[in-house]
This record gives sequence, structure tokens and C-alpha cells, in this order.
Amino acid sequence: MARTFKIAPSILSADFARLGEEIRRVEAAGADLIHFDVMDGHFVPNLSIGIPVLESLRKITRLPLDAHLMIERPERYLEAFVKAGANSISVHAEVCPDLPAIAARMRELGVRASVAINPETPLDRALQAAGEFDMILVMSVHPGFGGQGFIPETLDKVRTVRADLDRRGLDLDIEIDGGIKVDNIDQAAHAGANVFVSGSGIFGHPDYAAIIGAMRSRIGAV
Ligand code: DX5
Ligand code: ZN
Repeated sequence: MARTFKIAPSILSADFARLGEEIRRVEAAGADLIHFDVMDGHFVPNLSIGIPVLESLRKITRLPLDAHLMIERPERYLEAFVKAGANSISVHAEVCPDLPAIAARMRELGVRASVAINPETPLDRALQAAGEFDMILVMSVHPGFGGQGFIPETLDKVRTVRADLDRRGLDLDIEIDGGIKVDNIDQAAHAGANVFVSGSGIFGHPDYAAIIGAMRSRIGAV
């Protein structure tokens, strides 16, 4: 089936002293979503940004804000993220004992529901609950830090997820997150991903339009 490809710059690698300007630059450069990484120092060994920052960004961009919650007990914060302006929220399967329930809550709040899985996490629970979600986020690095190397074995996971969804007639987005660059984005697309998060691969480049354009032409050729 024809799939829409979306490029989602992760602002974790942006210059936080000039965040508004960075968002405007990637928006002008053709970004489809803004990927917003939230870390709690428990689920991952790092801290990042949270609700007040998302709320501020909501005022300066029309792009969908894609919140990736790398936090324990994410159910506590869903409503606040939705009120702040998130359009999609990813919660991690590893910290959600009842995936259908949290998906239902997200949909009730009017936000796109996504389940994220770490590289070492089995797929079974996320796939069982897939019918309740709009997106599955496959981590292609261990979460917690930008700028890590892509783990190639995670492409098999993407292939398995896409094959399982296709077999069941489920048309979810598959987002891949971590180490995505111009030189591997086509492999991720071939494997079945259609939403591509890239932090250092975009913000580490001086010309955002050139790099996003190059990524798009690599996957346009798939
Ligand atoms: C990692 C985050 C990613 C990260 C991606 O914990 O979830 O979104 O910022 O950054 P790169 O593309 O540099 O791996
Ligand atoms: Zn992320």
C-alpha cells in the first residue's frame, strides 16, 4: 500500500539556546513533524525537556509535535502533554503493564497513540495491542542519548512489525528512532518504517534543507 513518509527532526540535538529559531529552520526546511524527547532520569539515565517547553513550542510552529516519553508511569502525564499541545504521544511498552488501557486513554484525550519498544524488548505485547494504536516506535538505539550509532539488527524488528501489521490489515505508522542518517534511511524505509526520527543527522548538518531534501530523495527512491 502507498505509504506517506515523514521526516521528524529530534530537537534533542538542536541548539537549546535558540530553540524557537531551530524549529522555524527545520520547518522551513521541510520537516513533517517535530520529535520531542522527554527523559526522566529513571527509565533512561538522562534528563531532557518537558511540558513547559512543549507548550512554548506549540505557539511557534504548526507542525505536529511528536512527544516520545522515555519516562516511568507515563499515564501520569498524558493529559498535561495533550493540554500543552502534543499531537502524538509514544509510551514505552517496558513501563506500561496494560497497553490497551493506555492506548484507549490517549485516544480519549484526542491524541495519536503510539507504543515504543527498546532494541532488546520482544515485540509480542506491542503487536498484540497494535489494533489500539496509531503508531509503533521501534528504537534503533538504546534510548537516553542523541548521537549514538544505529543498531542494524533493529531493521529485522521493523520488518517483523510491518509484515505482521500487513497480514492483519492494520495500517499503522512505524517510526524508527536513533542513528538515522542520509546513508541508512533507505534501509529503514525498505524494512517498512515510514516515520524517520533524526536528531544529530539533521541538526549536526549546517544546511537543514539540503539534508532533509537528501533524506527525502533517498526514501523517494524506495
Ligand atoms: C534517543 C532519542 C532519539 C534521539 C535521536 O533516546 O529517543 O530521539 O534524539 O537522535 P539521533 O538521531 O542523534 O540518534
Ligand atoms: Zn526519541
